Amino acid sequence: MNTFIIALLLQSALQAVNAHYSLSVIKINGKLSGDWQYVRKTDPIANPWYDVLDANAIRCGPNATISADQTETATVLAGDTVTFIVGPSSPYAEYGFYHPGVAYGYLSRAPGDLESYAGDGEWFKIAQLGAINDTQWTIDADKYAMNITIPKATPPGKYLLRAEQIYSYWGTDNQIYLNCAHIEVLGEGVGTPGPMVRFPGAYKPSDRSLNPPDEWVINTRWAEPPLSDRYNLSDYEYLGPPVWRGRLTE
Ligand SMILES: *[C@@H]1O[C@H](CO)[C@@H](O)[C@H](O)[C@H]1NC(C)=O
Ligand SMILES: *[C@@H]1O[C@H](CO)[C@@H](O)[C@H](O)[C@H]1NC(C)=O
Ligand SMILES: *[C@@H]1O[C@H](CO)[C@@H](O)[C@H](O)[C@H]1NC(C)=O
Ligand SMILES: *[C@@H]1O[C@H](CO)[C@@H](O)[C@H](O)[C@H]1NC(C)=O
Repeated sequence: MNTFIIALLLQSALQAVNAHYSLSVIKINGKLSGDWQYVRKTDPIANPWYDVLDANAIRCGPNATISADQTETATVLAGDTVTFIVGPSSPYAEYGFYHPGVAYGYLSRAPGDLESYAGDGEWFKIAQLGAINDTQWTIDADKYAMNITIPKATPPGKYLLRAEQIYSYWGTDNQIYLNCAHIEVLGEGVGTPGPMVRFPGAYKPSDRSLNPPDEWVINTRWAEPPLSDRYNLSDYEYLGPPVWRGRLTE
């Protein structure tokens, strides 16, 4: 094996271990934001995160609170969709979501200003993007964007919108790609969001999805096992609380 091939192999191994993508751009009603304009900046190299019990990281990404006062607030009409996009500051932006896996959206209402809110309050889940069939996640490795629709019944106010994608692979390691946008929800929503959870707390290291059985692991671009009929993604157990769909009585 010549050194060129060894270098290539090494490079692809390094990329695979940490793909380092951030959801730093959002799109609302066709309007694309700047990089980190509405999303709390995180160190691109510190994404992914692994520890679901680390308060500094599991709310909005590692050290995201530090950039809270440099983050603008986007206005969104309840019922509209916010698209999170792998941004140009991601070291491997051209690959989009480098790794396939389940994605979630959560909201947490700021008690006052978003700029001074650490995300230590209550969160409710508004989206989960799981499998499209037994062998493929919605967020596959060739995707660049994920959609989160703000339920129409969401009460107006200032919220952190948390977008999270989790790549689980062999063993018990889970790469958590996580970013939060500042949004102000407009509209006439009078729903009562819930159930409420906190981060850390919503996920436990012992959760089955964080210790996935082989049939939930689609491992592309790194140590890819032969595609086989053992995959059974439709059977996946989502992390965290059920999705609040905005029904008034829920
Ligand atoms: C968070 O910021 C502190 C201080 O700047 C730094 O020492 C630490 O490495 C950062 N942690 C992460 C996970 O980026
Ligand atoms: C799952 O969906 C993908 C994309 O539509 C398709 O290529 C694949 O064949 C499907 N797999 C099964 C088991 O239906
Ligand atoms: C997200 O939603 C927009 C608007 O409804 C749609 O045009 C786009 O195709 C969706 N993107 C994804 C990745 O689902
Ligand atoms: C997938 O899981 C479901 C529910 O546990 C089960 O009924 C089904 O037989 C499984 N399919 C495969 C191909 O293992």
